[in-house]
Amino acid sequence: MKMKLEVLNPIGLPKPDNKYLTQTICVSNFIEEKIKEAGGKISFRDFMQHALYEKNLGYYSSKAEVIGPKGDFITAPEYGEIFANSLAKQCAVIIEQIKGAVVLEYGAGTGALAVDILKKLSEMNRLPEHYFILDISVNLIECQKKRLKEEVPELVSIVSWVSSVPEDFSGIVIANEVADAFPFERFVRTDREVLQVCVLRGKESFEYDLIPAERKLCDYIHALEEKLDRKLKNNYLSEVSFEAQNWIKDIACKIKTGVFLMLDYGVCRNEYYASHRNQGWTRCHFMHHAHNEPLIYPGIQDITTWVDFSILSEVAIDNDMKVDGFLNQSQFIINSGIEEDFQNFEQLDAKAQIELSREIKLLTLPDQMGENFKCLGLSKNLISNNNIFETGDRSYVL
Ligand SMILES: C[S@@+](CC[C@H](N)C(=O)[O-])C[C@H]1O[C@@H](n2cnc3c(N)ncnc32)[C@H](O)[C@@H]1O
Repeated sequence: MKMKLEVLNPIGLPKPDNKYLTQTICVSNFIEEKIKEAGGKISFRDFMQHALYEKNLGYYSSKAEVIGPKGDFITAPEYGEIFANSLAKQCAVIIEQIKGAVVLEYGAGTGALAVDILKKLSEMNRLPEHYFILDISVNLIECQKKRLKEEVPELVSIVSWVSSVPEDFSGIVIANEVADAFPFERFVRTDREVLQVCVLRGKESFEYDLIPAERKLCDYIHALEEKLDRKLKNNYLSEVSFEAQNWIKDIACKIKTGVFLMLDYGVCRNEYYASHRNQGWTRCHFMHHAHNEPLIYPGIQDITTWVDFSILSEVAIDNDMKVDGFLNQSQFIINSGIEEDFQNFEQLDAKAQIELSREIKLLTLPDQMGENFKCLGLSKNLISNNNIFETGDRSYVL
């Protein structure tokens, strides 16, 4: 029997209001045109590229609010300052170690992380010469500029927005929840072949089609099975993001001396492609509802996949970087010296005490962000004097 992939019907999803309904219709019409131009179907990767990143149209270009209570999801820097303080301390280590070190934040969202890192670095008297931000979303760049100007006007002069990683970069690159956002391929492994997930326009909605995978994807899955030392099970559905791999390569090639800290939800290869994980890791977010159907609400919902940290660290190693460590988020925050954030706890009023306790729980508890979110530390041409990865390093699983 021919393998078929059905569009799921997530239960309990809120309905978009009229404004978002119009937006998703617009994006759907655009994608429908692209499908026609391509002769009837496009890869899932291309569908995602249009839905999320199409200029002046896609989710990251057009949706007014994506991150925060009025958006679709909340990220660690939005909960408070603890996450940013942990990263600022890592920036400070590099700024002390490398003369003229700069910071590059990739995918800066609302600008919350940049504001709090800069505040902390200023307090520590460790400001970098430049704090670069690289983002693809015009809307979010606007938001970042506004927020920085309002919240740290005295520090804005060292912040600039760039469209590529500066050549011969010396310093620290940080990226929180960026790797999961790159367009990815979905595939189905059958006993006989590798099938590529494509999207076509059905009578009422987008639908899936499965075609023999293009060469690059096929070769990748065969190489993956060699590394796993087993074949994936029949009808195994999963993902791979070549874009995320290219991204790491680009950063690794441009760093002359320094560190790259990547934080995201993800696992190592063995877990990513574990036999029981036969429906993959695709995750969508719409108005704070997480589900796994990317074909609905094109342009108004976020589409992501968990990160395979093993392949990303291999790409980094192939491009002359070294893996310094791999921690879960709770260990990263604890190792960064969380006790400092609690120094004045007793002087806080009850409300502030509750908020701080809530924040630390959200960031570190295993059933919140503590376990699924990881920090991968990469470095180049640096003899590290940093002990952040001394306790709890799990790079042996990569
Ligand atoms: C999930 S949000 C995370 C935002 C922020 N780092 C945070 O923790 O709140 C993903 C961010 O990555 C940006 N982004 C996605 N693809 C990108 C790309 N190819 N180049 C640069 N930024 C990108 C988005 O615009 C957005 O700012």
